[in-house]
Amino acid sequence: MQIDIITVLPELLESPLSHSIMKRAKDKGLLQVHIHSLRKWAVNEYGQVDDYQYGGGAGMVMMCEPLAKAIDDLQKEVTYDAIIFLTPDGKTLNQKIANSLSLKKNLLMICGHYKGIDERIREHYVTMEISIGDYVLSGGELAAAVLVDALGRLLPGVLNDETSALTDSFQDNLLAPPVYTRPSDFRGWKVPEILLGGDPKKIEEWRYEKATERTKQRRPDLLQEDEV
Ligand code: ADE
Repeated sequence: MQIDIITVLPELLESPLSHSIMKRAKDKGLLQVHIHSLRKWAVNEYGQVDDYQYGGGAGMVMMCEPLAKAIDDLQKEVTYDAIIFLTPDGKTLNQKIANSLSLKKNLLMICGHYKGIDERIREHYVTMEISIGDYVLSGGELAAAVLVDALGRLLPGVLNDETSALTDSFQDNLLAPPVYTRPSDFRGWKVPEILLGGDPKKIEEWRYEKATERTKQRRPDLLQEDEV
């Protein structure tokens, strides 16, 4: 998978995408992330990419021209399956959206800043708008990093044990069951017997039961959820 990201703050993205599982995905050649500074397409020598908003009001807006030129240039090299704008008024990211995007080959992500981007770019270029939650961040970069991480770990071969993404919370609309490691008795707090017994069928049943119980208690909405 190739992901291109357009941003005014490349530094904000470089670190989160250079460690752990994301690093492994890149090292294995399973994920290529190209971060593009929007200033490369600035309208003048001062690196201007934003301007005052029509109609007045506080906050700058990212201009059409740099964004359109950036997207046009990138599209000369790559055909994107989706052009995603990270924005708090987009569709809220969930595991189903992550699963479906992880099957794509080429994605372009646009990080907004200031008051947002000129609406015409949303109308004429953007094909998908994603929010990572009902709160406002200072820009789309951290949201893009979250999205890339959620997708990257789903790519076949990225995780050591390929089944581990399948047992994550939210796959099958269930939260993950509790997990334990050594010692089996810590301050008298004991690991459930069944996990020590070594019967894979019983363990699987126990995990399913705990996952269902936990989902009913904490996120009953997931048990009704069907739509993407
Ligand atoms: N940009 C600012 N806030 C955001 C959010 N919650 N999700 C995605 N992009 C954003």
